[in-house]
Amino acid sequence: MSDVLVIRPFAGPARGLARIPGSKSVTNRALVLAALADGETILEGALFSRDTRILIAALQELGFSVDADESACRIKLIGLGGRIPKAKAKLHVGNAGTAARFLTAFLCLHPAGDYEIDGDAAMRARPMAGLLRALESAGAKCLTPAGSPADGFPLRLVTSGLVNGEVSCDASSSSQMLSALLMVAPIAPGFSVRLIGTTVSEPFVEMTAKMCAHFGRPLIQNHGAWICPQPGAYRPLSVYAVEPDASAASYFIALPAVTGKKSLIRLAGYDVSGLQGDTAFAAIAKACGADLHEETGAITVRSWSALRGGDFNFNAFSDTFLTLAALAPLLDKPVTLRGIGHTRHQETDRMLAMATELERLGVRVEPSAQSLRVNKSLDALTIYPGREAMLAASQNAPVQIHTYEDHRVAMSFSILGSYDLHGNGQPWIAIHDPLCTGKTFPGFFTALEQLRGTFLRIAVDGGAASGKSSTSRAVAAAHGLMHVDTGAHYRSVTRALLSASATPDNPRSVIAALPTLQLGTKITGHSAQLTLSGWVPMDAELRSPEVNASVSRFAAMSEVRHFLFAYQRSQVEVARSAGFSGIIMEGRDIGSIIMPDAEVRIFLEADAQARTARRAAEGQADAVLSRDQQDASRSAAPMVCAEGATRIDNTTLSLLAVVEKVGQLIAQARR
Ligand code: DC
Repeated sequence: MSDVLVIRPFAGPARGLARIPGSKSVTNRALVLAALADGETILEGALFSRDTRILIAALQELGFSVDADESACRIKLIGLGGRIPKAKAKLHVGNAGTAARFLTAFLCLHPAGDYEIDGDAAMRARPMAGLLRALESAGAKCLTPAGSPADGFPLRLVTSGLVNGEVSCDASSSSQMLSALLMVAPIAPGFSVRLIGTTVSEPFVEMTAKMCAHFGRPLIQNHGAWICPQPGAYRPLSVYAVEPDASAASYFIALPAVTGKKSLIRLAGYDVSGLQGDTAFAAIAKACGADLHEETGAITVRSWSALRGGDFNFNAFSDTFLTLAALAPLLDKPVTLRGIGHTRHQETDRMLAMATELERLGVRVEPSAQSLRVNKSLDALTIYPGREAMLAASQNAPVQIHTYEDHRVAMSFSILGSYDLHGNGQPWIAIHDPLCTGKTFPGFFTALEQLRGTFLRIAVDGGAASGKSSTSRAVAAAHGLMHVDTGAHYRSVTRALLSASATPDNPRSVIAALPTLQLGTKITGHSAQLTLSGWVPMDAELRSPEVNASVSRFAAMSEVRHFLFAYQRSQVEVARSAGFSGIIMEGRDIGSIIMPDAEVRIFLEADAQARTARRAAEGQADAVLSRDQQDASRSAAPMVCAEGATRIDNTTLSLLAVVEKVGQLIAQARR
């Protein structure tokens, strides 16, 4: 990617599954809490970005065992219950506010530590003093490298453990300072934290308190001071699931405001009542006209039904004000964004950055960038409708948007640039330093691109234990597809027929029982499962010896197959209307009968020995070869490698290698 990225407007609707990374705030808190727990914790769905890597590297530098598996979004960390292995270290926190504040308080737990911490130029200018004063009152020495009292970075911390008692913290400029103190509070018995005045972004403090409770140490507020009634090491968690990032989700909630009719975006794992205050953006978007629906564990957003301006207070979820600010010139009335003064001390002066760049597009902003430069205490922005002005400003060439090393400035203007302002697909916004999005969302532009893709159908066929399910599941997760296992359909129907005492030897019994079965679909994550009268049978029931023994015989009956054909084909529409970018369906006749016109068709193979060994490793007695023989020799829809399908022999290939091969076929099909 070059230094400037020209944004291609969406000519049609945006559709598909938006792939949102884990929350930075949750990941970095979980890393600290897991390090303070007594034993091993595994974080699932963790974010891998600049800011989380900085914290991971710092913990490793301090002697912690942190095992990060980036492709699986998983981190294994062995906590030491409050002990920090190394007494001396030099740490660099870049411009990562959470790492800077959390580590500073964390290091003070060492009974005899001597640490040096520094950050980028921008981090050196960010507020730390409130936290440092609080830590000093608990026994730490916070010095500049030259030995005088420090107000920020570069910082030398001489620590002697946190002494009992109450500390007061002025966190008016950043709630991260309060969060940093709260997380170490349970480790230092008798330690309590009192907030001086108020703090910004209160939901982040609530997030911290909730997460301390998740790790076994609830905090309470007692006469205005935070305490941990039962102090001690945090409890390790065998698995801690990190929520997808709600601030990142705001860009994809906003996108259908600017893309064509019939836009439909699905955000999986998004929980409006989760830990993150930034989920409040969903309500603001609705007030402005977003057509947003909550489902269990997901939301879908369709083309907005209106583009209404209004007056909103973003104080508690200010990371998302930039998203609405960038959309504002397209709304029908002015938009006023209040309570955002503190964002002037974040990655950059965010109010000034947004005002400057909107003005570059010709949009009227009050106060103007000029006034903001003069008066640093202004804390609200009003942005006026500005289509005409933007048309004029971008008539001849895309307007160059400066991003000030601020990922949110880059992402929010990319959403505005996705709007087909000129009505002919002409690009009109170019983003400087697009890679700054790596701070929290390294795959942002890929995720945006995936939403313009056409709906993709992938057929995967192959014999028993040829790796169809594991491959299809992994491909679905990597490409935002809905996964359908048609083998499970035959197994469900087999189980139901067996319980209705129907047998393959008595076709009448089968013909009588089939119409009593009520088929439906339940979507969980990426997987769509067949329901019978509303129930999804358990996996163990579908793989019982009885089902294994007779499924191929039932599946060979044309009555059974015809009963399932229409249902299986209807899953394409289910995937489309649920907002997935495509469907991956696996079975024996998918490329030949169910989806013969699928854009990608694959036939998986592995040698007989490898397949038998796989089933044995799963603890299953399954005569894979005789089932294959029956499946390939039946007259009704026999198992075949469909014409034009790509054969992949995975006998000696890793799952990752197979997924990559399929990825190449997908890329070819999308071209
Ligand atoms: O993929 P599996 O082993 O779970 O499939 C169970 C049986 O279902 C398999 O032996 C044959 C049958 N089947 C079929 O006939 N057609 C399909 N599309 C999928 C499965």
